[in-house]
Amino acid sequence: MKYLCSLLWHLCLLTALGAQGVAIPPSVIAQHTVAYPINFQQQVSTIAFGSCNNQDKDQLMWKPILSNRPDLWVWLGDNIYADTDDMLSMSTMYQKVLHEPDYLKLREQSSIMGIWDDHDYGVNDGDKTYPKRKDSKDLMLNFLAVPKNDPVWEREGAYQSYTMGPVGHQVKVILLDGRYFRDELVPNPTKTPRYFINETGDMLGEAQWKWLEDELRNSTAQVNIIGCGIQFIHDEHAFEKWANFPVARKRLFELLAKVKPAKTLMISGDRHISEVSKVELPGLGYPLYDFTSSGLTHAYAGNNSEPNRHRVTPLVNQRSFGILRIDWSTPIPKIIMEARGLDNVEFFKIEF
Ligand SMILES: [Fe+2]
Repeated sequence: MKYLCSLLWHLCLLTALGAQGVAIPPSVIAQHTVAYPINFQQQVSTIAFGSCNNQDKDQLMWKPILSNRPDLWVWLGDNIYADTDDMLSMSTMYQKVLHEPDYLKLREQSSIMGIWDDHDYGVNDGDKTYPKRKDSKDLMLNFLAVPKNDPVWEREGAYQSYTMGPVGHQVKVILLDGRYFRDELVPNPTKTPRYFINETGDMLGEAQWKWLEDELRNSTAQVNIIGCGIQFIHDEHAFEKWANFPVARKRLFELLAKVKPAKTLMISGDRHISEVSKVELPGLGYPLYDFTSSGLTHAYAGNNSEPNRHRVTPLVNQRSFGILRIDWSTPIPKIIMEARGLDNVEFFKIEF
């Protein structure tokens, strides 16, 4: 039966991909023995995540990522640098990553999930006005091998959630789509800062807000992880951030304080730096961390001193990926956050 399901899924995948001119290597197809590229039964002890993966640059980071033997890999955006509304061109870029031998090894040994940011969405700093967002979403879901019966295919936007692990030792990953419904930013002609803050604009759209609240309220997990392409907490730099939409950022924080989900950690990317930011939300009961990990293929090496009053780690301006190690031996699981880089060098480690 498992084999039959697998076969049917592969046929669906091939049909879907063929219709859009995207071919997936036979080796990848052969490696999928279940419908999802996610092992829902597996207890998750090591999660690796990262962002900003230019498909034309070296893909050396997969080796140290593999060496950590993560149970789960989470793509956190700019998974390719497409910056195009030509979907054939975008599919070719995804295919380039799907031919990377070390990424194929990761798919073989780890569960995979992900969400986009702007460059893979299709346009730098993109928002709800991007005309090819529906087609681009289909390409990303195909790249991630999300089965056709997953509800994400039916609804608008690419937000998803997955719960892994046995009852009592569960991790729920909630991936927010910060692009599909995002209101427009107003560019600043002087470029300092790069944008004017949108004092009334939204990030998620009402359907996604409702879904997020339900996902948090219904979570049975002991650890919740909320991922989004752009940073949640940092509010001082001039680039993209939730803080450019203060109404939405406040709404998110108030939602967390109201629902009070079990231990919840935020993860983000986009910035070509890695750092952890922290805020205390009245009523939440634990500190809220935002672990930013970026980028896999290129870093903002000139960024040595960016102010961030919320930062609780060193500022990493070298290529890096994030590791979350979950210690299930205590009633409330402990989470170790590590930033690592080429040769698996450790940049920082802190405990939550
Ligand atoms: Fe980005």
